[in-house]
Amino acid sequence: MLHFPVLLEESLDFLIQKKDGKYVDCTYGRGGHTQAILSKIDINAHLTSFDKDLEAFNHASLITNKNFNAVHNSFNKLEDTFPKESIDGILYDLGTCSTHFDEGDRGFSFLHDGPLDMRFNTTKGEPLSLWIKKASQKEIMDVLYEYGDEKHAKIISRNILDHRSKNEIKSTIQLANIIEDIYPEKRKKIHPATKSFQAFRIHINNELDELKQSLDQASNILVKNGIIVVISFHSLEDNIVKEFFKPSIRNFPKDIPLNTIEEKDFECIAKKIRPTDNEIALNKRSRSAIMRVFKKI
Ligand SMILES: C[S@@+](CC[C@H](N)C(=O)[O-])C[C@H]1O[C@@H](n2cnc3c(N)ncnc32)[C@H](O)[C@@H]1O
Repeated sequence: MLHFPVLLEESLDFLIQKKDGKYVDCTYGRGGHTQAILSKIDINAHLTSFDKDLEAFNHASLITNKNFNAVHNSFNKLEDTFPKESIDGILYDLGTCSTHFDEGDRGFSFLHDGPLDMRFNTTKGEPLSLWIKKASQKEIMDVLYEYGDEKHAKIISRNILDHRSKNEIKSTIQLANIIEDIYPEKRKKIHPATKSFQAFRIHINNELDELKQSLDQASNILVKNGIIVVISFHSLEDNIVKEFFKPSIRNFPKDIPLNTIEEKDFECIAKKIRPTDNEIALNKRSRSAIMRVFKKI
């Protein structure tokens, strides 16, 4: 399956304010946004694209443009790569690529069988199968509630523990069946494992913490008048973005002296931009996308 870049024209119209600027694409994926940025910027401009997924990084490494480099790391390492106030525009197109679900081998899909992994970066951390092997019922339940809003978290987590005591849970279909077997509402529009798989993916990749850390760093490396564009695919991501840029969150805890706090002021220049009906008809995955754009002032 190809990955279609979401809100491509809309995001770049905001992102690229200077043709000779320095840009960061935090989520290369299969390079849809990266290639479009490269086609719009001058040769003396520069683009760095991050992806923590090795397959995505290898794909990016094939790009030979002189004004481009790829980084195999999480976007929560922006400050390791760029000095303060050095970047004109930063783009996030969060979540997974369609290619993650192509075959079962990455362990993201409940439709294709494969090893229960779900890591973007398979060179670090532990696969979901290992975590599921040792997590307590409460830990599993909390992940399902918190990251999947799964109201059946309790019975799902209990069934996981029940199965685990008899057989190791090693494959995606095994886990999907354990969830489906116990799921009370059989005729749902979405597969019973949808929310659980989202929750486990967010947990195993530490997605929300890394996003918060990255936004903090992005706000430091951005020049004055620099732009941050974020495309989110669910409310947990979108809430972090909204919260981060809300002026009120800059009311730091009272025990921190005010003069030690660096003010990061941003103006929201576009909120809740959604794909057109046309885009959704062409790419169903785009239907849940929400784009927000902020300018450093
Ligand atoms: C929706 S895709 C990006 C698609 C891309 N814009 C395109 O048009 O091809 C999201 C990508 O972000 C990557 N990703 C997720 N979390 C990341 C993180 N913390 N740091 C770097 N990359 C991350 C995933 O591996 C995935 O390839």
